[in-house]
Amino acid sequence: MPQSPLKIGLAGFGNVGAGVYKNLEKNRDILRERTGRDIIVHRVVVRDLKKKRAVSLPLENVSTDLSDLIEDDEVELVVELIGGIDRAFDFVKASLEKGKTVVTGNKALLAERGRELFEVAKENQSHIYYEAAVAGGIPIIKTVQESLIGNHIQSVAGIINGTCNYILTRMSEAGLEYEAALDEAQKLGYAEADPTLDVNGWDAAHKAIILASLSYGCWVPCDQIYVDGIEKVTKPDIDFADDLGYTIKLLAIIKLHENRGIEVRVQPSLVAKDHILASVRGVFNAILVTGDVVGETLFYGSGAGQDPTSSSVIGDIADAVARENQQGAMGFVTHDLYGKPLKVEESISKYYLRVQVVDKPGSLAQIATILGDHGIGILSVIQPEDHEEETAPVALTLHFAPFGKMLAAKAQIAKLDCVREEPILMRVEAV
Ligand code: HSE
Repeated sequence: MPQSPLKIGLAGFGNVGAGVYKNLEKNRDILRERTGRDIIVHRVVVRDLKKKRAVSLPLENVSTDLSDLIEDDEVELVVELIGGIDRAFDFVKASLEKGKTVVTGNKALLAERGRELFEVAKENQSHIYYEAAVAGGIPIIKTVQESLIGNHIQSVAGIINGTCNYILTRMSEAGLEYEAALDEAQKLGYAEADPTLDVNGWDAAHKAIILASLSYGCWVPCDQIYVDGIEKVTKPDIDFADDLGYTIKLLAIIKLHENRGIEVRVQPSLVAKDHILASVRGVFNAILVTGDVVGETLFYGSGAGQDPTSSSVIGDIADAVARENQQGAMGFVTHDLYGKPLKVEESISKYYLRVQVVDKPGSLAQIATILGDHGIGILSVIQPEDHEEETAPVALTLHFAPFGKMLAAKAQIAKLDCVREEPILMRVEAV
């Protein structure tokens, strides 16, 4: 006997919510064939009923009150796409307490309060799915949770913010200024409603925390990770990096150091042009996961946008149906421990340093002395001959050193009389 339809509720009908509705309707037949249930959007909650929309709202059961979804016993599964933390937390918690399955794309919510929500889910024997929360359309959550379950994850290195990757690509390939590239990314619908979270690195950081929780079975607190955005990346740095054989990417690094802690950080970083991550252009994301059994694996795809992200939401809905049918347990890490984060000062990499110096004999020697005093070796130096002003940019690449020593050396260099402007420091990653 055919199963009854699965009635779902959509909280939020913005870019992704509208995409979920549109694509569920478009592929309804194949979803019914593949999952064994008809999936119907039964109720929708929006912020503004009068807003003009590219995708029309369903005609019935649309309101502005989230409790309409929570209280509707016909709705078995809710999709949370309202964003933000406090209101979304209350909604997800109440839905789980009602025994509803929750599908969410809300990385900030999970990174900040995921631990509490997974406890509520466990107590109520309900479930949370969140493929859309990390890297848009790339099925990285399911991959780490299920396909790589037999591995110790050694490291994860990812380009996991499409907006930043789009901006950096356009700055480097089309010579756009930062603002113009950001404007383009917003018009194309890649950026968050508040693009600050994209460009200051926190959207990627929330995703990194989720990936760390899956890789190492514990939540790393937000206030104990190091996050730097792309707002200070300038055209000269992109050009110097290019001359030195690198491209600049916003990288999230997640790595376990036995006995020392979990390294979780997001920073603009130089990546060698022949490294596979350097070829990830535009809004695309890529995640390099290394496991002790599988070795290196790379996952690539659209990290933002209506259709790719709704593909992940729909995958989660189908997964929820499959799980209910077989009533089995998913292989899944526990979420009951806080990990010990590695102090960022102890994390080690090579570096790029650009210093604007007075063009006089001895300037470079003073910089080299400070670096030497901190035990930091110089790999290469570039100073263009054709500068016109009294000061000249010097770009250096530096050997492996602890970040703490590098920051101390940079602070000392910044105070030299021959130095103008705050020096620019970035990591050179060899992931
Ligand atoms: N705004 C995000 C990005 C997409 O640019 O990658 C959703 O996380």
